[in-house]
Amino acid sequence: MIRQFWLATAAVLCITAPASSETAPTAVAFDDGAIEASLTGGPGDAAAGKKVMTTASLGNCVACHQIGTIPEADFQGDIAPPLDGVADRYSEAQLRGLVANAKMTFEGSFMPAFYKTEGFIRPGAAYSGKAPTEALPPILTAQQVEDVVAYLITMTE
Ligand code: HEC
Repeated sequence: MIRQFWLATAAVLCITAPASSETAPTAVAFDDGAIEASLTGGPGDAAAGKKVMTTASLGNCVACHQIGTIPEADFQGDIAPPLDGVADRYSEAQLRGLVANAKMTFEGSFMPAFYKTEGFIRPGAAYSGKAPTEALPPILTAQQVEDVVAYLITMTE
């Protein structure tokens, strides 16, 4: 009985405890554009990543990239290189860096930085001349970045 109580308590703690190993957007260390360690401290979920990549309010990668492995996504853009075979061209660490902030790999890229909260030019700031007071949330969470990376590393040809 007591043992069951403790097991239940432990299970609840596991679910509710904050992910202490998560790397905040401002604490990400880039090494030549790449990020070695998982932002969550664990692996991502490729199926969830696929959803992020095709959801307009999240990754919306298909707006710019053709992704042959997701033919069900309509209206794929072609203003960026196709992502097919991307795992043959880049390591997992490089792909993580590209998703978090592609500008660290391709200077001046117009690909959005998905895991970044600082350094944006905000609407309004140019008019008011005031420095931004609070950080914007990143477009994707650490978990969503890892989910996308998990899908990208399956994209071999
Ligand atoms: C607004 C357009 C846009 C969106 C949205 C976008 N990208 Fe990109 N991406 C680019 C461009 C442009 C490049 C080429 C690098 C450059 O010159 O800027 C690129 C390059 C890449 C590369 C390197 C490809 C190669 O073969 O060199 C990867 C990987 C990548 N993007 C992944 C993603 C993922 C994953 C998403 C969604 C989470 C995404 N991109 C969303 C525009 C975009």
